[in-house]
Amino acid sequence: MSLPKLMTLHGRNSSLVLEKPDIGVPLWRYWGPRLPDAIEAIAPFAASRPPQTFSLEHDQPLSVCPTLGGGWFHQSAILAHASGQAWSQELTVEDLDLTTQGTIKITLVDAVSGIKAIVHIRLDPASDVITARTELINDSPETIDAQWLAAATLPLPDDSIRVHFWGGRHPNEFVPQEQTLARSIWRRENRRGLTSHDCVPTAFVETRRGGVYGAHLAWSGNSVQQIEWIDDGQYAWQMGEWLAPGEVRLAPGHSLTTPDMIATFSPDGRNGAMQNFHMEMRSRLNWPGGQAKPRPVQINTWEGFYFDHDLDQMKALATEAASIGIERFILDDGWFHGRDDDTTSLGDWWPDARKYPDGLSPLATHVTSLGMEFGLWVEPEMINPDSDLAREHPEWIMRGHQRPDLTARNQMVLDLTQQDAADYIFDKLSALLGTLPILYLKWDHNRDLTTSGQTAQYHAQIKAAYALFARIRDAFPEIEIESCAGGGGRIDAGILPYVHRFWASDNIDARSRTQIQHGFLSVFPPEIMGSHVGASPSHSTSRSQSMDFRSAVALPGHFGVELNLLTLGEREKERLSYWIDLHKTLRGELHTGKVWSGTLADGVIWQMHGDDNSAILLVYRLEPTTQRHALPLRLEMLNPDASYQIDRLDDRKETPNAPSFDKMRTGDFQMQGAWLAHHGMPLPALKAERAMVLRVSKL
Ligand code: GLA
Repeated sequence: MSLPKLMTLHGRNSSLVLEKPDIGVPLWRYWGPRLPDAIEAIAPFAASRPPQTFSLEHDQPLSVCPTLGGGWFHQSAILAHASGQAWSQELTVEDLDLTTQGTIKITLVDAVSGIKAIVHIRLDPASDVITARTELINDSPETIDAQWLAAATLPLPDDSIRVHFWGGRHPNEFVPQEQTLARSIWRRENRRGLTSHDCVPTAFVETRRGGVYGAHLAWSGNSVQQIEWIDDGQYAWQMGEWLAPGEVRLAPGHSLTTPDMIATFSPDGRNGAMQNFHMEMRSRLNWPGGQAKPRPVQINTWEGFYFDHDLDQMKALATEAASIGIERFILDDGWFHGRDDDTTSLGDWWPDARKYPDGLSPLATHVTSLGMEFGLWVEPEMINPDSDLAREHPEWIMRGHQRPDLTARNQMVLDLTQQDAADYIFDKLSALLGTLPILYLKWDHNRDLTTSGQTAQYHAQIKAAYALFARIRDAFPEIEIESCAGGGGRIDAGILPYVHRFWASDNIDARSRTQIQHGFLSVFPPEIMGSHVGASPSHSTSRSQSMDFRSAVALPGHFGVELNLLTLGEREKERLSYWIDLHKTLRGELHTGKVWSGTLADGVIWQMHGDDNSAILLVYRLEPTTQRHALPLRLEMLNPDASYQIDRLDDRKETPNAPSFDKMRTGDFQMQGAWLAHHGMPLPALKAERAMVLRVSKL
């Protein structure tokens, strides 16, 4: 028996193996814990899968691109046809390219339909992250309608037990969900035309052995995620773009490339998978100057002022902000022509002459003279029917063909696939960016896309939006951009190369934020997580929390303030200023290392940021403990053979207290790693909605 031709990629902690059969598409043999460098003498699939009753004689193990024509009964990686013909493909290998280290590129062709598929799979040895995508090329003389193209088909092992994912809404993102996997399909479809608050394109799969698989689709539009049980007990995991009927019709010679499916396996559970994703996402960021500077503490005018702009008040706010250490001032919605509420003006991107008679320059100059950066809110992809722009160019509005306008927040989507419309927006933004000292744009997108035109153009609109982002970045390489869509409606790796921060949610309630942050951090690193201290009571929830708790929850992210500082009491301002200082001392560590997070059964959620020698531990008690004495916190990531010192970094005091907690303030609290990992660290009797900031350092 000849040995199978195996193709193997290794990471630090994971490996993947493909088998090249004599005919047909490379088969998945393995994706999981790291295997030895040399994998020896594995029998080919064909040698260990005897024919079964009521089965095709032609065995169909899971391949990298399974299709119906070869007798695959599960979800095909391609659903396409030419006017009802050539609907099922059977692919053979035309080329296998292993020349790029860490990458497998497989060119497949269906001799009958002329459809070609190129599957790219890369495993980054440093992060253990697979980046996979598929290209569909129409090499036939007919137009091909593509209904579905999986970015990748990845194998999940038979001991996969549960899928974890997120639901949510505006403004309550990242509501955790879980479902047990069974002999069926877990499938989610997002048809909102943007990444969405409620159907986040990310999932994690837990296995019985403890290892965790995670995947995310790098795309800011519609999506499909599917995990299907297949009849050898494994599961096939696919992600891709949800395509509307007729949306992709490929003329001869044309092609469609999927977004990247970014996936990882970690033997270290959810925290391991999260850390892998953070490495990958950090590598996708394009910082001005090539490197992130310390994240400037921001003030944003939205919840403090909404549409109520007054130049003197804004200047006073900037002065007050600078006095407590804030480093960047962002003028939110309400600054442009005629914009007094959310019913008008999107599209009219020049300063409102009533509110800013001399333009924005007096405010921007005031801000920069205080040593702060100046930033501006815009919503370039949108148009209000009540705007000068809509009156002048009604044809630029994306609308359903002969159907009523479906407005949301009184607005419509601007059709950026029309070059004139895209040029108009570019010119208006350029006029602002070219004449004012703007170093930051908060780029919003406050509605879903609905039926667009006579033919669906979700895909084209997303591509056009990416092109606009790229054009602005090229023309103004020094500016940073925040991605916002009614809070966290556009948080994904597709938009990541163009932006530097995500506004995680319009809900700034610190309790809600602990959950939202937990979800956000599952894939994206803390330095790009916009986290603000809002007013109390919270505008979204009406819950009230102390300044200390609100600040401690915002502390690990890209810190900001979003309230009216001019009406804040002296004591609260002092506390806010204290937390801003603490954040500035810690942000270098908070924003560069690994993150671990978890919950304690007793109402506690925690996060740890740093490396194996020194890390900052944030403990948030959400609920009062139901125990007479609080449960210990197990720090399972610590080295059991090392000893550690624990220091309390924030100045909050608890009553009643105990000697151990005093020692954490005087540098006298040391403990063995094994004890901290397996028994746990004692926690003080924190009241509900209280937090502690600690440092855990290896001795
Ligand atoms: C969205 C954003 C908010 C704010 C408003 C302004 O809702 O998420 O932060 O910018 O728009 O209209």
